[in-house]
Amino acid sequence: MPDIAFDHQDPAFVADPYPALRRLQEQAPVFRSERMGAWVVTRHADVRAGFRDPRLSSDRIRPFVAQLQPALKEIVLPLGENLALWAVFNDPPQHTRLRALMGKAFTSRAVESLRPRVAAIVDELLDAMEKKGGELDFHRDFAYPLPATVIADLLGVPRADVDSLKKWSDDLAQFVLTSRANPEKYRRAAAGMAEMTDYFDGFIRRRAAEGGGGDVTSALLAAREHDDRLSHEEIVATALLLLFAGHETTTQLLANGLYWLLRNPDALAELRAGLDDARRVENAVEEMLRFDGPSLSMVRVAAEAFEWHGRRIAKGDRVFLFQSAANRDPRLFPDPDRFDLRRANAGDHLAFGYGIHFCIGAPLARLEAQVAFPRVLRRFPKLALADAHPPWSDSILTRGMLELRVRV
Ligand code: HEM
Repeated sequence: MPDIAFDHQDPAFVADPYPALRRLQEQAPVFRSERMGAWVVTRHADVRAGFRDPRLSSDRIRPFVAQLQPALKEIVLPLGENLALWAVFNDPPQHTRLRALMGKAFTSRAVESLRPRVAAIVDELLDAMEKKGGELDFHRDFAYPLPATVIADLLGVPRADVDSLKKWSDDLAQFVLTSRANPEKYRRAAAGMAEMTDYFDGFIRRRAAEGGGGDVTSALLAAREHDDRLSHEEIVATALLLLFAGHETTTQLLANGLYWLLRNPDALAELRAGLDDARRVENAVEEMLRFDGPSLSMVRVAAEAFEWHGRRIAKGDRVFLFQSAANRDPRLFPDPDRFDLRRANAGDHLAFGYGIHFCIGAPLARLEAQVAFPRVLRRFPKLALADAHPPWSDSILTRGMLELRVRV
């Protein structure tokens, strides 16, 4: 096995992870990172197979909490119990029932009916940006509030509460999306989770008492599969999951997508010329998801020992499936480091995962981006980057910027 240097905390990796991931892809497709204490998988075929492999379990919260030192475990236990109810952290058969019931509420019809509302929210945000004028932070002024407002509307949560929910959810993200142990971080995450659970507990009880309502929360309350339904705790957990999964990722799609458009004047000009062509806009969004989408990697835990590319994965080992690497695999995508909005197979990316956990919110995320980009570009014909090297988050799971300064 060649000696390969791989440091996921190196500032060069945080700014641009793709060269290091390509090296692993070529030299060690299943790589043991001692720094991460985990396996790193980078080829498209392997990442896709990993998502479908029942030996790789999604039940990653319980084992993580179980191995913490007693002091940390005590802080995190209630938080862990709540996360363990999220569909995304469960395997079949529990995942199958949660997903089926969630799917009854989160339908493509519910999503499609949001299209005019998404356009209205986009226009409101653009009005505010236009009024400010000059230089602004596209991340804060647009990419963050759009998905947060949309998901709040979808769940039926009052817009006035969105900022509090966002704060609690950001605190929770420190636990779910970053890997470094730190008691203060865990305490804040646990507090955020407790606040959000309290909030949704009350909100869902009121919704249940009132009855009716056309939002996803009411549909979750009404969802039935055979004789089965979601318990109150499961509805609270599912609402939290939708809220959590539904905003930061989409924020990153919007910000990363705009960043690469502005870095690639030819691609930008081509898209500007084709804004009335829905197919071209759709393909452009797929290429944004492929080229530098919000998912760096997803974690699984080996439920049994097995061999992969000659390496021995032990039971209990953590395995990171690097979607970002897979999405630039030259075995599938010719000239993979080119941002090509007309790429024929852009949609073969794994940004939304694959298999049974495939992102249930993909149609909503796509809709938001497909509505947003044409409106942003039409409103600001001279949009340009004010900082060509924005700061990137150092999360090993998500790929996103902390701010994106632009001139309108
Ligand atoms: C560009 C934006 C988004 C990206 C890149 C993204 C990515 C993903 C990925 C990779 C998974 C698979 C997780 C796994 O295999 O462990 C996933 C699952 C999920 N996503 Fe998304 N997501 C996005 C937007 C959304 C939105 C808008 C919602 C909801 C409103 C949402 C809700 C969910 C849920 C509930 C799951 C769990 C599905 C399951 O376990 O069966 N996501 N997402």
